[in-house]
Amino acid sequence: MAWLVMIASLILVTWIVSLFTILILSFFPFTNLRAAPLRKRNNVLLVIAHPDDESMFFTPTINFLTSRRHNVQVLCLSIGDADGKGNIRKKELFQACVALKVPMQQVKIVNHPDLQVLDGFGKVWNHSLLANIIEEQITSHCINMIITFDNYGVSGHCNHRDVHYGSFSHVSSKLLYDTLQKDIDVWELVSTNILRKYSGPIDIWLTMIWAMLHSSGTIQYLVNEHPRRSYCAMAQHASQWVCQSMNFVNEKGDRDE
Ligand SMILES: *[C@@H]1O[C@H](CO)[C@@H](O)[C@H](O)[C@H]1NC(C)=O
Repeated sequence: MAWLVMIASLILVTWIVSLFTILILSFFPFTNLRAAPLRKRNNVLLVIAHPDDESMFFTPTINFLTSRRHNVQVLCLSIGDADGKGNIRKKELFQACVALKVPMQQVKIVNHPDLQVLDGFGKVWNHSLLANIIEEQITSHCINMIITFDNYGVSGHCNHRDVHYGSFSHVSSKLLYDTLQKDIDVWELVSTNILRKYSGPIDIWLTMIWAMLHSSGTIQYLVNEHPRRSYCAMAQHASQWVCQSMNFVNEKGDRDE
């Protein structure tokens, strides 16, 4: 019994120390500034699949960029109409972006029939169509940096993966021929395994070590400098919160019957 208590308190202490480390890092954000491409001002395009991806996955990145006056454009490739709430979700995305200091004019939500019908789990989006839409945005806004999902897409959602392939196929094939002289940095959000995802603040140590091992700066970690903004952004997506709690109620109801 004694060793169980010891292990539990060890985990608790590690957890608290990690949390304080993150707090300290968020107060001294210069630790984030090692990558040369992040030091100059960029026209950044954040490519996401559904309204609320920006708040769920990218707020530390957006906060980092906007507080250093990078010009951030958000490109959302669907209105998220799988459950018929597309118009509400569109509005929520605009409001969330404003909370994250990205002006509404810099948010583009694509409402393409081929990308709406197939919205949801288990449906594949046409990668070359995505690539075309992304390319148009790159040229019309002089984008020199893209940020998007990696090929697992954080949650494994297939639309997140499609967005990744759309962004990357574009850069690797077409752009390379067309505008090789134009440098475009592409950054992807690294998906972590379930253990790391749910280890909370403790994961900061692994992340730091991993980034240090890539001294060339190809891997960066960003500590959220404005957690309150992230919270406000998330709070704008009320339709999704209601939806989730209703599912919960439904499940309970089914079980009672
Ligand atoms: C995918 O999109 C491209 C570009 O819009 C189009 O030419 C192609 O026919 C589409 N493929 C399918 C299977 O719909």
